[in-house]
Amino acid sequence: MIKIGNIELPDFPLLLAPMEDVSDPPFRRLCKMHGADMMYSEFISSEGLIRDAMKSKKKLDIFDYERPVGIQIFGGDEEAMALSAKIVEAVQPDVVDINFGCPVKKVVCKGAGAGVLKDIDLMIRLTKAVVNSTHLPVTVKTRLGWDNDSINIMEVAERLQETGIKALTIHARTRAQMYKGEADWNYISKVKNNPNIEIPIFGNGDVNTPEKALEYKQKYDCDGIMIGRGAIGYPWIFNEVKHFFETGENLPKPTISQRLEAVRQHAEWSTEWKGEKLGLIEMRQHYGNYFRGIPHFKDFRVKFLEVFTMEEMVEVIAETEEFYAEFSF
Ligand SMILES: Cc1cc2nc3c(=O)[nH]c(=O)nc-3n(C[C@H](O)[C@H](O)[C@H](O)COP(=O)(O)O)c2cc1C
Repeated sequence: MIKIGNIELPDFPLLLAPMEDVSDPPFRRLCKMHGADMMYSEFISSEGLIRDAMKSKKKLDIFDYERPVGIQIFGGDEEAMALSAKIVEAVQPDVVDINFGCPVKKVVCKGAGAGVLKDIDLMIRLTKAVVNSTHLPVTVKTRLGWDNDSINIMEVAERLQETGIKALTIHARTRAQMYKGEADWNYISKVKNNPNIEIPIFGNGDVNTPEKALEYKQKYDCDGIMIGRGAIGYPWIFNEVKHFFETGENLPKPTISQRLEAVRQHAEWSTEWKGEKLGLIEMRQHYGNYFRGIPHFKDFRVKFLEVFTMEEMVEVIAETEEFYAEFSF
């Protein structure tokens, strides 16, 4: 069993990564259904929360069935981070997570996200500000360092632990790598094998198959794995990995009908959460992902993109199912 504060997770938990515009309640619900052990919200701007910005507030929505769930915040100002942690606490997630990994310029420029990888003292002050302002367990997600010449995750992990955080997720890339190149998980085992480190260390970066998950589990010694892109359009990944761990065998891939049912379910929850119009507009980014690698989907994707009501959705799903009925995948 792995513990984050008082939260008990199964041995070697699989976590859904925080992903902007992806890890919202409807998507999280699907991932939960398919075996995610813990999940994180999209990142939320601390400044936005304080300004009471609608977009930021909406991201605070969490539901009991998805627990344990963490809400992730980012920002470069101690006071704003402390205040926003209080706002987050009011909606009672299981965990507050701090993002020190976002490589995007508009975030980094404000000294937030991966920006603090160049200023570890600031990173520690920001973390302390959050830890001291909430009763909730605080976790952190970060990268290896700013660039290849300044990898500082060993020092960062020790100093973060001293602030009182309860777990650390390491995306095994530098900021300079953005999302390119391979994640270097060797650093994750180095941190994990540091005798001073007691908090759980979760590994993140590039895990998108059961085989890779098992290889990394065996090779790099971490306490669990966080999966991001591998779950987009493919929430089945969590149960697939678990099954592979247990049996060494692959579950059958989801059929076309199962993929379509996931699309329908995702769309239904999305419309429940955001309203039919916006819910279905936001679904547009997902259709292609649910059919990654499936031939002939292009024509149907166009049809899905023109869906404006759940009624139309049901029709397009039926049409797609009929077309694929003669194929054996
Ligand atoms: C579309 C997208 C949005 C993301 N948004 C966030 C975010 O809000 N907070 C965060 O900490 N990381 C974010 N990330 C990074 C992921 O959490 C994860 O660290 C990264 O994708 C590497 O893991 P993966 O190879 O399993 O995808 C995002 C990644 C993607 C692809």
